[in-house]
Amino acid sequence: MDASDAAGVLTEVLATEDQIRSRLAELAGQIAIDYADTAADLLLVGVLKGAVMVMADLSRALPFSVEMDWMAISSYGSGTRSSGVVRILKDLEVDLSGRHVLIVEDIIDTGLTLSWLVSNLESRGPASVRVCTLLRKPDAATLDVDVRYVGFDIPDAFVVGYGLDYAQQFRNLRCVGTLDPAAVTG
Ligand code: IMP
Repeated sequence: MDASDAAGVLTEVLATEDQIRSRLAELAGQIAIDYADTAADLLLVGVLKGAVMVMADLSRALPFSVEMDWMAISSYGSGTRSSGVVRILKDLEVDLSGRHVLIVEDIIDTGLTLSWLVSNLESRGPASVRVCTLLRKPDAATLDVDVRYVGFDIPDAFVVGYGLDYAQQFRNLRCVGTLDPAAVTG
């Protein structure tokens, strides 16, 4: 789905494909500097399924080889707000002892999912846990979690594209935007 497909799906584009690519390149540059001495111990942890696109593009923008692992957690229920109840559907395969963990997220809304994830991973003995997210909604700014790398701060609206879904649809849209209600009714 390219930009022309977004016309019938989105009311507004919040981040274009080009903007996402260049912002992720900036974040990767910062991450490369911050982890220059510890790159061998760096582990990118992606949260399925939304973070797939961010992980693919962020990791490929890094100038060194990096290990990746994935978790699947369920926290969203059937509505559009986080429930705060988190269940592990798929756990990591890697032992976190002594690793520098960088959680790669698509979006932080209430931050409930992330707070749970950070404390869960911290309990496994890593050298550090930091967070990189492509998108952050306003409520997340009050969070007591170190979100070190943020792509874009966006308004409090439901967005889809670039990994983010509504009812498992629209993840393959290349940009991120607010969903047109007409696209999901009727
Ligand atoms: P939180 O616990 O409220 O921060 O919610 C985090 C998770 O909810 C994200 O990883 C997404 O899977 C999902 N989510 C939050 N906001 C949106 C959105 O605007 N569109 C699609 N999914 C969202």
